[in-house]
Amino acid sequence: MIEASYHFPRGFLWGCATASHQVEGNNTNNTWYWWEQQPGKILNGDQSGLACDWWGGRWREDFDRAASGNQNAHRMSIEWSRIQPTPDRWDEDALDYYREMLQGLYERKLTPLITLHHFSEPIWFLENGGWENDQAVDIFAKYVRKVVEAIKEYVNLWVTFNEPNLYVALGYVQGIWPPGKTDLKSAFQVARRLILAHAQAYQIIHSLQPEARVGLAHHFLALQPAVSWSPLDRLATSLLQTTLNEMITNPLKSGKMNLILYQSRIPQAKGTQDFLGLNYYTRSTVAFDLRKADEMFARRFFPENAELSDAGHIANDPLGFAEALRWANSFNLPIIITENGVNDIEDRLRPRYILQHLHQLWRAVNFNFPIKGYFHWSLVDNFEWERGWTQRFGLWALDLKTQQRTRRPSANLYADICRENGITSAMVEKYAPSLFDQLFPA
Ligand code: FCB
Repeated sequence: MIEASYHFPRGFLWGCATASHQVEGNNTNNTWYWWEQQPGKILNGDQSGLACDWWGGRWREDFDRAASGNQNAHRMSIEWSRIQPTPDRWDEDALDYYREMLQGLYERKLTPLITLHHFSEPIWFLENGGWENDQAVDIFAKYVRKVVEAIKEYVNLWVTFNEPNLYVALGYVQGIWPPGKTDLKSAFQVARRLILAHAQAYQIIHSLQPEARVGLAHHFLALQPAVSWSPLDRLATSLLQTTLNEMITNPLKSGKMNLILYQSRIPQAKGTQDFLGLNYYTRSTVAFDLRKADEMFARRFFPENAELSDAGHIANDPLGFAEALRWANSFNLPIIITENGVNDIEDRLRPRYILQHLHQLWRAVNFNFPIKGYFHWSLVDNFEWERGWTQRFGLWALDLKTQQRTRRPSANLYADICRENGITSAMVEKYAPSLFDQLFPA
């Protein structure tokens, strides 16, 4: 057997990503809790409940897992509804608890990347109109200032918003996430406010901490027209590209929202990214479909021979990742992979998925794309939004009843990758032998 390796640059960040509502448990004051209480919103009526019980202290054992798995970084989010339980009160104990967690990362030599908004908000914020309220940007700015002042001694890398594009599409167009609206006009306005809120957060963080590095975590859905020469399939693909993939990102380059249905100048947003955070999971094939007006006339599906995750939500498509990386590289900014992973309870696909995606990442690094790190989604199974507990993304499995964690083979694979700072032929032989000839052709 060939003994070969693909190595990453020295100092590359290797970690996992998590989000407050998905792991903390007992979050009863945010919009997702409110959503979970309504019948029919979450698959099987699942609730986040104790989640991974991080608020009860199990972050310690999970950070230990990350550190003993040779990771050197971790991405987590701050829960706004804990910091500001009512509009006029800051919870200093909650801030202290986050400081304790950050100290925990520091002691384990895990570099933190902190997300300020990962889908959940205080219920009072929504009751005041959420992002439809024209005060929303200022309200969010106060929260940002409070958090950054409190924890900046621990944090250099900040993500303002996680996947604002999905947040808008699912919460304001399709209505399957809180606040459950289906109103295109309002969706564009909300998108504009999120961009403004990001820009303001960017300035606030830099004013408090000039050396900070601030970005957004963009969800990039790679797309290909079902029939490459079909003008209608191409139209649907391009409508989805300019809205879903580029509605938030383009204004950060150009200072303008320039969509067919919505134009607006946002000069203060231009240049407000120090790095580009990229969340990539899969690529979709797109066919034009008149019945899909709320999804830009795009009917999305996976090719027949695709290797699918549980319940078929993700296709293992590493070339889609290569496309996502090329897209990210066009911003001329450092790139951090802020999420990538697959739901796979049996871990039959995950080892292949990880190796093939990291192989594409390595290729991009070798084309001199300025890629600084990779955060796998996720460390331990966690509450997966409207799909509840049906989707298992963890390197470690979680038994919700006992809170017991069980190592999946991928946890060992990822630990080997992080230790080696790369992929070796021995790893491929051990964890995904069927990939050997593809990744290491003789
Ligand atoms: C992303 C979300 C993350 C997680 C993964 C599976 O869209 O950012 O919270 O749910 O999908």
